[in-house]
Amino acid sequence: MPTADFVVTTLRRVLMPQLWQGRASKAVDSRVNDFNSSIRFDARMIEQDIQGSLVHSAMLGRQGIISAQDVEDIHKGLHSILDDLHSGALEIDPAAEDVHTFVEQTLTARVGDAGKRLHTGRSRNDQVALDLRLNLREASAHLQGQIKELIETICDQAEKSADYVMPGYTHLQRAQPVTFGHQLMAYAWMLLRDLGRMQDATARMNAECPLGSGALAGTTYPLDRFYTAKELGFDAPCANSIDGVSDRDFCIELGAAIATCMMHLSRLSEEIILWCSWEFKFIELDDAFTTGSSIMPQKKNPDVTELIRGKTGRVYGDLNTLLVMMKGIPLAYDKDMQEDKEAIFDAVDTLELCLRTVTPMLATMTPLPANMRRAAAKGFINATDCADYLTKKGMPFRDAYKCTGTMVAACIAADKTLEELTLEEFKQYSDLFEEDVYKAIDLTTCCEGRTSYGGPTKASVLKQIELVKEKLANQ
Ligand code: ARG
Repeated sequence: MPTADFVVTTLRRVLMPQLWQGRASKAVDSRVNDFNSSIRFDARMIEQDIQGSLVHSAMLGRQGIISAQDVEDIHKGLHSILDDLHSGALEIDPAAEDVHTFVEQTLTARVGDAGKRLHTGRSRNDQVALDLRLNLREASAHLQGQIKELIETICDQAEKSADYVMPGYTHLQRAQPVTFGHQLMAYAWMLLRDLGRMQDATARMNAECPLGSGALAGTTYPLDRFYTAKELGFDAPCANSIDGVSDRDFCIELGAAIATCMMHLSRLSEEIILWCSWEFKFIELDDAFTTGSSIMPQKKNPDVTELIRGKTGRVYGDLNTLLVMMKGIPLAYDKDMQEDKEAIFDAVDTLELCLRTVTPMLATMTPLPANMRRAAAKGFINATDCADYLTKKGMPFRDAYKCTGTMVAACIAADKTLEELTLEEFKQYSDLFEEDVYKAIDLTTCCEGRTSYGGPTKASVLKQIELVKEKLANQ
């Protein structure tokens, strides 16, 4: 993850002077400083903050706004901060107001006056809008890589189970036969859409660079915003400085893509929880991905999947936080917007954690095809095929439906399955029944006969895997 591996948990007294010295007659109350400070959660953007400052200062030099010597000093100082960050020698001051303040003040302490010139023609408002985009761009790329791995894992499992017949469900009632591979591949398609949503969100995040918007109204300095935008990997600078500092759509879009992905993982989790229960026993999870009970010696619990289901609600909360935070604030920047980071970082971290765990769990899961087949044999999931058999022999479908329904009711009363009826018994319901009915309602026939495009057959599952892999390769 593109995060600095430190967590600042406690806030200490003010160590650094505020940036706005001059206007105020006293230092900020330490309680206000603690309340105001965002360093404990925005310090993870330090690399992006430095990246932005390197480009901003280079541009100031190119435009003759600061001297070449200042640019050199600033770059040397910023690189030394980066080096210390990477070696672990950098101490983040938990009392700094935010990461932007911390970097500027650390730089000034190291290189003197040149450091004080870094912020020329810039505000923390355009700076934070930039840093967050740069940070989330990397986070999104990382999540996309993890989603791809999960999709590939699903494809591998689906390939092995492409012909395991199991009951497909509607209303959690056995409905029609499908293959386990087909059921699994449904999740591959969902995740492929998640990937697309994240790519769309990232493309818009990278379209317009807010740097150079200033506090809200641009600046009188002759900035080259096209240069900074290009250097920082954006298509162009944003064309409206007010929008530049007050837009957080990119957080909301990524948050929505993450929440949707969590929803998919949660549904998969719910199915896994059902499948590994004694009631279903369609799969066995690897012991390394389950937990036990402190009192019940027999227990093997699917905690991982339950946690994913639980954490989904929390990620919805993050998205809701962002939406509600933005809905009533006037243009341009308002401090409310500082709340964006904890919400979107929590969403990113939560999905990261879930994907990190669910993929190996799925890779090591063992499907139990005999149990799936046993379940498929019960529950009259071949009833539609029985009705279709009569329809193909000339009976109108609605009549065939009713006739089969009557047979199912009689079978339930006699504790039998349709295929256990003798041909004479079949014929009591319709003369159209012949010896070939047994083949027609055989589970494998029922499943493999569903040859319509996108159906549950082995061939269709293999085709889906091919299509999904093709799409992944073209990304
Ligand atoms: N820490 C602030 C944030 O995350 C940075 C921008 C502060 N701007 C200001 N005018 N106070 O939003």
